[in-house]
Amino acid sequence: MELRGKVALVTGGNRGIGRAISIALAEKGADVAVNYRRNRESAEEVVDLLSALGVRAMAIQADVSDYGQVEAMVDAVVKSFGRLDILVNNAGITGEHVKLREIPLEEWDRILDVNLKGVFNCCKAAEPFLRQAKGKIVNMSSVAGKMGGTIGSHYAASKAGIVGLTFALASELAPDVMVNAVAPGPVDTDLISPEVKRRLASIIPLGRIATPEEIAHAVIFLLENDYVTGEVVDVNAGRYMD
Ligand SMILES: NC(=O)c1ccc[n+]([C@@H]2O[C@H](COP(=O)([O-])OP(=O)(O)OC[C@H]3O[C@@H](n4cnc5c(N)ncnc54)[C@H](OP(=O)(O)O)[C@@H]3O)[C@@H](O)[C@H]2O)c1
Repeated sequence: MELRGKVALVTGGNRGIGRAISIALAEKGADVAVNYRRNRESAEEVVDLLSALGVRAMAIQADVSDYGQVEAMVDAVVKSFGRLDILVNNAGITGEHVKLREIPLEEWDRILDVNLKGVFNCCKAAEPFLRQAKGKIVNMSSVAGKMGGTIGSHYAASKAGIVGLTFALASELAPDVMVNAVAPGPVDTDLISPEVKRRLASIIPLGRIATPEEIAHAVIFLLENDYVTGEVVDVNAGRYMD
């Protein structure tokens, strides 16, 4: 898919990996709606950056775990930009607890609501517009969704759920909409603490965690390529070779 002139919605597009994806899309000439939940200032800063690259950009607040808010967001993007070609389901959170015996029931619900139901919500609300545009979806899974990881069963389950959702929707929405996921290893963002980053870097064959731009690069590949659907692309510097 030629990205120039296309319209993309990036959830959690204001910070970390989502910010890098928003910038990479704008560098390719796509108009970008930058979703955020709380940090309006960083969303507006990204919008200024994208506008300076010569594309249309808007900041849009919505909690992806709330279907009503997601529907209003998708409608607002289509109203402003006239269409929707690309949905990048990037927004995600971790919990405060890691061990099964320590995870409060509410924390399980909160993680699953944002990380998994949030992706379902956005796909559901965007489907008619993406079908019309013959568009694409890229979901953000994680190495934790395939290996379990170290940040909790709730997080791992939400990211494994994204893999299943990706496969099911790739089949259901073909040939109109192509649906893929990216499964990063640890990335240098605010999501994980400096201590965890150091620990994880020491067990990665390439010896370092990823930059957000290296994950955005894989997202762009999946959007530009027209013969990959139902795929989960691992971007983890050889983590599986351990
Ligand atoms: N960093 C890693 O090591 C790593 C590895 C594998 C996968 N991932 C996945 O990659 C994605 C991005 O992670 P990141 O590291 O860039 O995280 P981050 O820096 O903590 O940013 C998280 C983003 O998600 C948004 N967000 C959180 N809850 C939301 C909600 N309910 N509705 C809408 N937006 C919401 C945040 O918006 P506000 O700023 O407004 O709160 C923020 O933009 C996540 O899905 C994460 O699980 C990350």
